[in-house]
Amino acid sequence: MAMTTLPTPADLNITPRDRRFGRETAAPRLWHDGRVEATAIYNALSTTFPAGEAFFVESVRAFREGAPAKLADEIKGFTTQEAIHSREHDAFNKRATRSGYDLSKLEEQVEKRLAITRGKPAVVSLAATMALEHFTAILAHQLLADPSHLDGAEAETADLWRWHAVEEIEHKGVAYDSWLFATRDWPRWKRWKVKAKVMLYVTRNFVVDRTAGALELMRQDGVTGVRAWSLLLSYLWVRPGMFRKIAGAWFRFFLPGFHPWNEDDRHLLAAYSPIASGDDPKRKVRSAG
Ligand SMILES: [Fe+2]
Ligand SMILES: [Fe+2]
Repeated sequence: MAMTTLPTPADLNITPRDRRFGRETAAPRLWHDGRVEATAIYNALSTTFPAGEAFFVESVRAFREGAPAKLADEIKGFTTQEAIHSREHDAFNKRATRSGYDLSKLEEQVEKRLAITRGKPAVVSLAATMALEHFTAILAHQLLADPSHLDGAEAETADLWRWHAVEEIEHKGVAYDSWLFATRDWPRWKRWKVKAKVMLYVTRNFVVDRTAGALELMRQDGVTGVRAWSLLLSYLWVRPGMFRKIAGAWFRFFLPGFHPWNEDDRHLLAAYSPIASGDDPKRKVRSAG
């Protein structure tokens, strides 16, 4: 099958921005609006990034060889961006640890999930990455589209999340295009069946694990039981309602002809202030290897 009709925009720039956050300012333990549940869910998410994004890099890089030049180039931009995200979220997680959270249970759960794909064919890891990258991209879209998600967050920490969201949107098609390339000889129905199964599987794990992780961190703040559940569920599903607001974009993944770039949402990147002010450094950064 020809690879010439990919909808990834021809003028797309995947720009690794080698920024560092929170090295000088001390964010409070409850950095997100002083709220236990808001801080907990973002901290739980951040806990997954260092190991999770290293796994994405490995999974996609395995298919770089033989890929068309444009895709190979995008893979390079993708791996560099993700490597820097891992570094910054590792630093973020260390600050959470210094402010008293014990993240070890959450980290063990991430390792447990990643261990399942080890020993399976490389295309299984690529499929999981492709599904999770769609998940990340729709979370990023929502985070930038609706500023209420970061209302009251400590300024530099909010910037870290916006910076990450910007780059997730820029590289949202890379794992998907790698998947299309890797499965170019598969019949359509098989491609769809595998991608749908994998998406349902990773979504279930994502929702269950992040909820459990957030509840564990809330427990460390002394909030438990019905009160913890109602605070968290209302935050995720009602207001600001991140999970409710991404539901439509999540469903579109299953439609025929889906591609992450069917929606060009690059106008949202301006929610990250260096881009809005034209101050976005396009400097060359060291490659992730
Ligand atoms: Fe990332
Ligand atoms: Fe990503």
